[in-house]
Amino acid sequence: MCGIIGLTAIENYLREPIGSIIRRCLKRLEYRGYDSVGYAYIDKQKLKIVVKKAKGKIDDVTRILDFKNAYSNIAIGHTRWATHGKPSNENAHPHTDCSESIAVVHNGIIQNYMELKGKLVRKGHVFKSETDTEVIPHLLEEYVKSGMKPIDALRETLKILKGAFAFAAIFTQERNKIFFAKMTSPLVLGISNKVKFLASDIPAFLEFTNRVIILRDGEFGYISPQEVYIESIDRGAINVRNRIRVISWTPQMAMKGGYPHFMLKEIHEQPLAMQRTLQSLNIKEILEAVDLIINSNKIFITACGTSYHAGLVADYALSSLLGLPSFTFIASEYLKYFKAFGDGDVGIIISQSGETIDSLIALRKMKEKGVKTIAISNVIDSAIPREADVAIYTRAGPEIGVAATKTFTTQIITLLKIILQAAKQLGEDVEKIESELNKTPKISGRVIRAHEAKCREIGRRLSDAKSAFYLSRGIGVPLSMEGALKLKEIAYIHAEAYPAGESKHGPIALVEPNFPVVFSMLLDEYRESLIGNIMEMKAREAYTVGLIPRNERQVIEHLDTYISLPNINPLIAPVIYVIPMQLIAYYAAVSRGYDPDKPRNLAKTVTVE
Ligand code: AGP
Ligand code: GLU
Repeated sequence: MCGIIGLTAIENYLREPIGSIIRRCLKRLEYRGYDSVGYAYIDKQKLKIVVKKAKGKIDDVTRILDFKNAYSNIAIGHTRWATHGKPSNENAHPHTDCSESIAVVHNGIIQNYMELKGKLVRKGHVFKSETDTEVIPHLLEEYVKSGMKPIDALRETLKILKGAFAFAAIFTQERNKIFFAKMTSPLVLGISNKVKFLASDIPAFLEFTNRVIILRDGEFGYISPQEVYIESIDRGAINVRNRIRVISWTPQMAMKGGYPHFMLKEIHEQPLAMQRTLQSLNIKEILEAVDLIINSNKIFITACGTSYHAGLVADYALSSLLGLPSFTFIASEYLKYFKAFGDGDVGIIISQSGETIDSLIALRKMKEKGVKTIAISNVIDSAIPREADVAIYTRAGPEIGVAATKTFTTQIITLLKIILQAAKQLGEDVEKIESELNKTPKISGRVIRAHEAKCREIGRRLSDAKSAFYLSRGIGVPLSMEGALKLKEIAYIHAEAYPAGESKHGPIALVEPNFPVVFSMLLDEYRESLIGNIMEMKAREAYTVGLIPRNERQVIEHLDTYISLPNINPLIAPVIYVIPMQLIAYYAAVSRGYDPDKPRNLAKTVTVE
């Protein structure tokens, strides 16, 4: 999620306006996706902080932000991916304290900002934005006003902030230092003799130095032209010298954090994306959605592509957990239900981009008929959440790869959180499922580490296939549909998903020796029948791949290869089981020599009907 840059140089060292450098560094963070941009610097003559910021892309606001007339030896900059408060000039970063002697840029989410903001307002602080970020400069101001030095004010502030954050701050009272803190969101330091950098990602300052310090959670401190000071919340001052790394990435590689493709980076980012999503779900919005759902006549769920598959998972959870019937349809096929839409119905529209025209049209058609609408989206203030009655956001951060990965898993987590809250309100005991759901960030990290090599092997094996089946039963069917879509859209291998029980009603005619069939076996009541389906396929010498529960043994003899996954409630299993499918598709595509980030004929957001 978006970009921070900061630099502080010895006086008169820079050969160009600092604003021009800030602009160039922010341009190298553009790939992370953003909606606003801004920067602040200390005007050494007037001894005050100058802030320039605007909604829009860097190229569109360059004239307004007047980078080339910004002269100083110290500045911070930011590209914002809005999470709290719509994209606007006021909500763009940097944010300042009341006296404008502190400026802050922040990446991430301050989970307890409402509570902190309330206390600060009661103390007389005046807020100018809707963002969570703005509590940081005002907290720092409180401590500095009490007589603390900036580093002590920073240490005290960190004791009360909760959430995922990386931020940088400049103070007029310490004119050569940029203060920083890192917790979950990324922050790195760039070390050069006469100038020091901090940034969300290495590409920002790679033209100036390849000597970096990758900050760790709980670390804070400051950079000045001659010094780097790092302290850990738990362990005190850190020996900086041991932490400097020289990196050999090209700028292009560095944008992907060392991964060869954004898609692989985003698959690996899923534990963090899930954690951020779980941490920042807004209970007020969840309760609004739940109220609509449990008091509805009919429930409609609509989306496209991967988001449609997330909708099918939610559909399954709604009926199996709550006994509520729901009608899930592909957005472009809304006409089938148009007559059925009516007052008292609720429609859930799922869209990562929030701009998919088919889903936007379906939303509008539902609203036309009086249906109350709930949007699940990853982009604040995009069209679909803007037009829905209730908007709930995933916090996957920008997804650059065309194939949806982390946005799919965070969509399901968000939908399940809503459904579990509804179940609780209807008197169901869902404590165990909810606790498993809250563990998915950790479980997914373990699955990636344990099985990526096996997925690469399976992906290479599938790369020779002309066609493949993805089979399962129950909630494993929408999971299989997502796995099949991944293989189609990035490896260009035809793949079909359907309920395994359907095989003998026709599709099995396609199976010949070596035909790949990927089975997903969950901890549900379908185990015995699924073993039968696997045996049917093996009897025809298919190449059988199994994604199976850890303790499953009996079925192994009928599988050519398998991946044992953690025992997890079937309703949550798609969040975990989809990860090997993403990796298998990724490695199949790479084995076939394709670029998974830019699949042919596809766009990240389909804004034409
Ligand atoms: C999935 O990998 C594709 N990128 C595509 O199917 C996508 O999920 C679909 O176009 C819906 O996009 P949305 O979630 O932004 O509405
Ligand atoms: N939560 C902050 C905001 O909405 C920062 C978002 C970001 O990471 O860019 O302004």
